[in-house]
Amino acid sequence: MAAKDISTTPLAPEGGYGVGHVAIIMDGNGRWAKNRGWPRLVGHRRGAERVKQIVRACPDLGVKWVTVYAFSTENWKRSTEEVLGLMGIFARYIEGEAERLAAENVRMRFIGGRERLDPKLQKLMAGIEARTAQYDRLNLTVAINYGGRDELTRAARRMAEEVAAGRLDPASVDQDTYEAFLDTAGIPDPDLVIRTSGETRTSNFLPWQAAYAEYEFTPTLWPDFGPEQLAEVLSRFSGRERRFGGVVSA
Ligand code: IPE
Ligand code: IPE
Ligand code: MG
Repeated sequence: MAAKDISTTPLAPEGGYGVGHVAIIMDGNGRWAKNRGWPRLVGHRRGAERVKQIVRACPDLGVKWVTVYAFSTENWKRSTEEVLGLMGIFARYIEGEAERLAAENVRMRFIGGRERLDPKLQKLMAGIEARTAQYDRLNLTVAINYGGRDELTRAARRMAEEVAAGRLDPASVDQDTYEAFLDTAGIPDPDLVIRTSGETRTSNFLPWQAAYAEYEFTPTLWPDFGPEQLAEVLSRFSGRERRFGGVVSA
């Protein structure tokens, strides 16, 4: 698919929509393909094109951080063909977008456990992270082999190792300590989590970080979700009042 002209990207109102960090559960690629009688991987490829468009549109929409759920710790249950196909799409995305991300001042990072990934993919991931580390116009974080429970478990294990080594005092462990051990250390919490495809569950995505996020669910399948749809969901969010446990302001 030819990437849509970014000049059609809607512009945010003055000051943006109040969403600094949007996290997206990109769901519905399989159904999108199935509806057309095509293999699931065609849906995933179209989905990857959408990620490119959304990334390009974010700065104009006032979004500085975007985190996308690309592959969960549960997605290994899928067929080998689909899993390998997805891994290939991730590798090609990194190789194909490296120049553009750097030119557009976008920092790319990954969250999720890396050991289970192909070493070649791990190398590409580390390479683009290093290459774009100095950029900050937009922060793109991609969750690959990510599961919230897995992330919390790995963090607890590493904290326990630090305690055992005498480098961490258990009495000093607070929420800030915990956050420093998460994959998302240094990344602000999402303001809004969007899930496409009509499912209304979080599927193990950012349980710690999204504890106070707003949620928006849209029936649109991910391969149909473009900048206009994102702008529409953000504008719905901007009418919400976030109280964080406090009381309504006068
Ligand atoms: C989301 O689309 C992408 C991944 C989970 C990798 P799905 O592949 O889950 O699409 P559906 O839910 O089967 O339509
Ligand atoms: C969530 O979608 C994971 C990603 C979008 C990567 P799934 O399609 O895997 O989630 P479930 O199985 O419907 O909960
Ligand atoms: Mg799905």
